Amino acid sequence: MSRFFSTALCALFVCTLCSTVASASDTVAGKALYDSKSCMACHNTGMAGAPKLGDQKAWAPRIAQGVPVLVSNAINGFSGSAGTMPAKGDDATLTDAQIGDIVAYMVEKSK
Ligand code: HEC
Repeated sequence: MSRFFSTALCALFVCTLCSTVASASDTVAGKALYDSKSCMACHNTGMAGAPKLGDQKAWAPRIAQGVPVLVSNAINGFSGSAGTMPAKGDDATLTDAQIGDIVAYMVEKSK
């Protein structure tokens, strides 16, 4: 019985670690992905109306919505007054967590 409990506790602990790791955005990984994926094609130049990386004025009202909204808009895509953000920047190989990392990097660079 006690063995069962320690196994269960152990599993719980590992799970807690998992979710902590998954929810903490990694801006270093985000930068690498940003630079190697489609994101930089639009967001470095402002192509198609994309808010440029580092353009604090363009990002301030977006950041004000809260990072979860930005991540969700980047994952699902959306059309705003500036143009159309394609879902996952048109790269379906990116996971939601990777988009989270990229957005965290973009926000860090643009505020
Ligand atoms: C084809 C060009 C294009 C590509 C590629 C692209 N974006 Fe965008 N993105 C846009 C445009 C245009 C907007 C602004 C839409 C508007 O507000 O009207 C935008 C807006 C955003 C926003 C702000 C969302 C908001 O709620 O204001 C985030 C975050 C974002 N993009 C992340 C990304 C990420 C991450 C990638 C790469 C996976 C990416 N974008 C690739 C064009 C692009």
